[in-house]
Amino acid sequence: MITTVAVAVYRPVVLPVRRLARAAQRMSGGDLSARVQLQGRDELAQLVTTFNEMASALENKVSELEQMEARARKFADDVSHELRTPLTAMTAVAGILHEHPGLTGDAATAGRLVQQEVEHLNRLVEDLIEISRFDAGTAQLVTDETGIASAVSQCLRARGWSDVRTDVPAGVTARLDRRRFDVILANLVGNALRHGGPPVTVTARIQADGRGAGQLALEVRDHGNGLPLTAIPHLFERFYKADTARTRSEGSGLGLAIARENARLHGGDIHAGNHPDGGAVFTVNLPLNA
Ligand SMILES: Nc1ncnc2c1ncn2[C@@H]1O[C@H](COP(=O)(O)OP(=O)(O)O)[C@@H](O)[C@H]1O
Ligand SMILES: [Mg+2]
Repeated sequence: MITTVAVAVYRPVVLPVRRLARAAQRMSGGDLSARVQLQGRDELAQLVTTFNEMASALENKVSELEQMEARARKFADDVSHELRTPLTAMTAVAGILHEHPGLTGDAATAGRLVQQEVEHLNRLVEDLIEISRFDAGTAQLVTDETGIASAVSQCLRARGWSDVRTDVPAGVTARLDRRRFDVILANLVGNALRHGGPPVTVTARIQADGRGAGQLALEVRDHGNGLPLTAIPHLFERFYKADTARTRSEGSGLGLAIARENARLHGGDIHAGNHPDGGAVFTVNLPLNA
């Protein structure tokens, strides 16, 4: 008797509720195609219908958003590539123009300005192309066993940053993409020099990653005013600049976004904070075997 009653209640109520729960779980796990089969005409069936309608609406909306995003990304990529060719020509002309002996006074100043702005545009376009490679999922790692001390000193030497202090033990090595490592470090040191203040130090060591393996911990520290606390959560967003008073042409605002994408491509990350004694500290963690 008890079993009969139990079965009688179980079937029409518990089963559909379970199915609903499972479908909801699948949806929250990212499978938006989850639907529940409709049975009967009671309130539960009504609930199932509403659930299915909601699921369809959500699936359509997400797919619409994905298509819009893909179009926006393709647009940014196309525009950047289209700009490259005329910019190359403009760079050449602006380079000759600003050194032209016939240009004096205001005209010379204008020539220099044009050259600076073209350079700025060039950097912006190169950064945009770099970012769109990450968005398109075409960014690839080319890894090599790398001595960190020499990678750091090469990065600094190539940019004439002779007054940056380094503290990297000779034996520290990691398997990583050298070009991308250089991009990360150059962005962070460039920021420390431009937005922070001297002295700027780069340190690297191997440390435990908390999961039983080792990781590379690279730190770039400066002695400037540090990062405004309200800015820290946004620093890695595209086009974000904490200091709005800075002149427009100084940076693209994409540097930290690109640096983080590069670190994440390695399976690592970058964190920003302030040192208790003042100045900003950016820490890059990279697995030893990317
Ligand atoms: N070392 C630093 N000290 C103070 N502010 C910094 C530092 N590094 C980055 N920032 C802030 O973070 C912003 C974003 O940096 P980034 O993405 O490299 O863009 P950009 O350098 O082109 O402005 C900078 O505009 C600056 O306001
Ligand atoms: Mg920068």
